[in-house]
Amino acid sequence: MTSYEPARPVAVITGASSGIGEATARTLAGLGFHVVCVARREDRIKALAVELGGTAIVADVTDGARVDALAAGLDRVDVLVNNAGGAKGVQPVADADLDDWRWMWETNVLGTLRVTRALLPKLIASGDGLVVTVTSIAAFEIYDGGAGYTSAKHAQAALHQTLRGELLGKPVRLTEIAPGMVETEFSVVRFGGDQVRADAVYEGMTPLTAADVADVIGFVATRPSHVNLDHIVIRPRDQASATRKFTRPE
Ligand SMILES: NC(=O)c1ccc[n+]([C@@H]2O[C@H](COP(=O)([O-])OP(=O)(O)OC[C@H]3O[C@@H](n4cnc5c(N)ncnc54)[C@H](OP(=O)(O)O)[C@@H]3O)[C@@H](O)[C@H]2O)c1
Repeated sequence: MTSYEPARPVAVITGASSGIGEATARTLAGLGFHVVCVARREDRIKALAVELGGTAIVADVTDGARVDALAAGLDRVDVLVNNAGGAKGVQPVADADLDDWRWMWETNVLGTLRVTRALLPKLIASGDGLVVTVTSIAAFEIYDGGAGYTSAKHAQAALHQTLRGELLGKPVRLTEIAPGMVETEFSVVRFGGDQVRADAVYEGMTPLTAADVADVIGFVATRPSHVNLDHIVIRPRDQASATRKFTRPE
C-alpha cells in the first residue's frame, strides 16, 4: 500500500516525467495536493516525487496489470489528470505506419480508458472527484499528416465527454483541456528523437509552456464543487489553428 497523509487530497497525474504532466504535478503540489506521479521513466518521477513530497508509481498506461496495481495501491483519489500521451510521425494516410498508429491509440485512447476505469470507484468514493483529460486542439481539428494523432485525440475526447453524461448525479467533475502548441518533449518524441527537427516546429513563434497549461489545470482543480469547466482550449497567441501560426521574420 502506498503511504501518504490521507488528510490531504490526492491527485494522480499520468505522464508526470516531463512536460505538461510534470508541470501539473508541481502546480497541484503547490495547491496542497498529495501528488502521485505516474510514468515509465522511474528516475524522473522518483526525483519529482521526492522534491514535491509526493509518491512515484512506475506504470505504463498501455499495461493493464500495471494500471490495476496502481489503482489497488491507492486508498484515496480525488483528482485524476489523464495526461500521458503524444504523437508519433507525420505520415500521410497513404503511407501510414501501423505501429505508430497503434502506439498513439494505445497510449492516448486506451491508456486514458484503462486509468480512468481503474480509478473511477475511488474518485466517486472521494465525494468530490475531478477527472482532467489533456486532449489537444487535434481532438477537434485535423491536418495533413496528422490522422494518426488527430483520430486518437478525437477518440480520447469522445471517451472523456461520454463520461460527463454517464457520471451525471455522481460527485465527479470532468474537464477536457485542449492545448495548441506547447514546447515540451512532444515534438522530440513525434520525430523519433530528432531535436533539430523538433526545435524547428517552434522557430519564430512563441509557444505555450507546460507551466501555462498546468496553471489552468490548477485553476480547474480549485473551483467550488458545483462548478464544472467542461472544455478549455488554450492556444499561443501566435497560433490560430493547427495549420495557421504566425512566424516572425528572422
Ligand atoms: N506539446 C504539445 O504541443 C501538446 C499539445 C496538445 C496536447 N498535448 C498532449 O499533452 C499531453 C502531454 O504531452 P507533453 O506535451 O507534456 O509531452 P511530453 O513532454 O512528451 O510528455 C509526455 C508524457 O507522457 C508519458 N507517457 C508516454 N507514454 C506513456 C505510457 N505508455 N505510459 C505512461 N506514461 C507515458 C511520458 O512519460 P514516460 O516516457 O516517462 O513514460 C511523459 O511524461 C499528451 O497527451 C499530448 O498529446 C501536447
